[in-house]
Amino acid sequence: MTTLLKLQNVNLKYQNDKKNLIVLNNINLTVKKKETISIVGESGSGKTSLIMLIGGLEKATSGKIYFNNKDLTNLSEDKISEIRRKNIGIVFQSFYLIPNYSALENVALTLELNKFRNPNSQAKELLHRFGLKNRFNNLPSQLSGGEQQRVAIARAIAMKPELILADEPTGNLDSENSLMISKILFKYVAEEGSSLIMVTHDHKLANKSKRKIKIIDGKIS
Ligand SMILES: Nc1ncnc2c1ncn2[C@@H]1O[C@H](COP(=O)(O)OP(=O)(O)OP(=O)(O)O)[C@@H](O)[C@H]1O
Ligand SMILES: [Mg+2]
Repeated sequence: MTTLLKLQNVNLKYQNDKKNLIVLNNINLTVKKKETISIVGESGSGKTSLIMLIGGLEKATSGKIYFNNKDLTNLSEDKISEIRRKNIGIVFQSFYLIPNYSALENVALTLELNKFRNPNSQAKELLHRFGLKNRFNNLPSQLSGGEQQRVAIARAIAMKPELILADEPTGNLDSENSLMISKILFKYVAEEGSSLIMVTHDHKLANKSKRKIKIIDGKIS
């Protein structure tokens, strides 16, 4: 199968009080199209940092990151943002919805910014699909945690990204909502043929992916 993402000898270091902290240490990873991968590992091992690097939200100290054979490490911030906006959907543990925008507006905004036609009706369709047809006009504060995460996922997949990055997407949810969210994510990737990289502490959820990767002290073990 075709390669979607390739990390080659990727390192990430932070400088704290003149000390070098090696957060990611010589990461090599190839992700194929349609592949689903779970990332597990202890707190502080570097999982979120890896997601940030892949999503272009953080810059590698050294190494190469190729997305669709394009070297992200050589691109300007603007170019990286454009690639991310169009091709990568990111879901976090905290939902980061725009607080004064309704559920519908949160999803429609992404489509509008990307010049999609009929952003409102497309956003409605997505929210409908996620069981939120009676919540269009609710603000995030008027939604439950599970509902907010469904809106966040609808927003992340509105552009039909080739890659979904999810960092503890069910971390703030009870088991019933976790199950619903994981079903939605896996159904989407199966239907749309996108790839999924998901960080999770939940082993049952991790086992739903085709591949499981463990990070120990910034290294893939
Ligand atoms: N901006 C930063 N500056 C300095 N150190 C950082 C920064 N961001 C993260 N770190 C450090 O990098 C290490 C890895 O952090 P990261 O958030 O990737 O861990 P994680 O595996 O996601 O942990 P958790 O399971 O708790 O979310 C930690 O030791 C953290 O303190
Ligand atoms: Mg983390």
